[in-house]
Amino acid sequence: MQATSRRIVTNQAGPHQGLEARVARALQYPWRKPIADHTREAFAAAARWREARCDMPLMLDAGCGVGISTRRLAEAFPDHALIGVDRSDSRLSREHGPLPGNVLLVRADLVDFWRLAFQAGWRPARHYLLYPNPYPKASLLKLRWHGHPVLPFILALGGRLELRSNWRLYLEEFSLALRQATGREVAVEAHDPGAAYLTPFEKKYHLSGQPLWRLVVKLPHYPELVAKA
Ligand SMILES: C[S@@+](CC[C@H](N)C(=O)[O-])C[C@H]1O[C@@H](n2cnc3c(N)ncnc32)[C@H](O)[C@@H]1O
Repeated sequence: MQATSRRIVTNQAGPHQGLEARVARALQYPWRKPIADHTREAFAAAARWREARCDMPLMLDAGCGVGISTRRLAEAFPDHALIGVDRSDSRLSREHGPLPGNVLLVRADLVDFWRLAFQAGWRPARHYLLYPNPYPKASLLKLRWHGHPVLPFILALGGRLELRSNWRLYLEEFSLALRQATGREVAVEAHDPGAAYLTPFEKKYHLSGQPLWRLVVKLPHYPELVAKA
């Protein structure tokens, strides 16, 4: 099957000049944006589900879209408890068959969900950010996860963190932000999914002939990255 998915078009020639300042700010200043009630409720339900499986290692699929990756990861890790989070009700409610017993799909804003997970002391063993929205215009750096004030919370949760993207520069910037925050040097690698696609976006980009990239890092629990209020 052929697919036609447009390549990323950006007005950046390299890593964003403002990245270092944004990461420094996120690390230095406490972030006070109130948490939305609906995500608080969604998190409380997820925490109850998690509590009932507290003997299983936790995996997060952040921005899981229609939840296909969450299902596939559940098959690969049947002894883990998997939570897929996405803010799009229409994506989450698409029918892709019954959910395995070790999967929960949650409609929530990750920006709040991650903070609540951090506050609740969650320690995911594995954490996936698969094909996050790239926001390729330079003016949108603040919307990329590494340019966002939530970055310290993502890293502080710890565990094996894996990002995949069809935009190499996104992952290179994430790697720079990671180094700034934790001192860790992590290379961006080419990713060839073969025919074993983990997500619909992975499939779409691969069948369009686009190169894919990934970044994997094993992090300790890093509570000190989150600035105290
Ligand atoms: C490009 S899609 C990738 C979906 C899926 N991971 C895949 O590869 O097929 C990015 C997903 O992230 C979700 N997303 C973006 N920002 C979000 C946020 N703040 N909270 C929750 N989900 C978010 C979008 O709704 C969308 O489903």
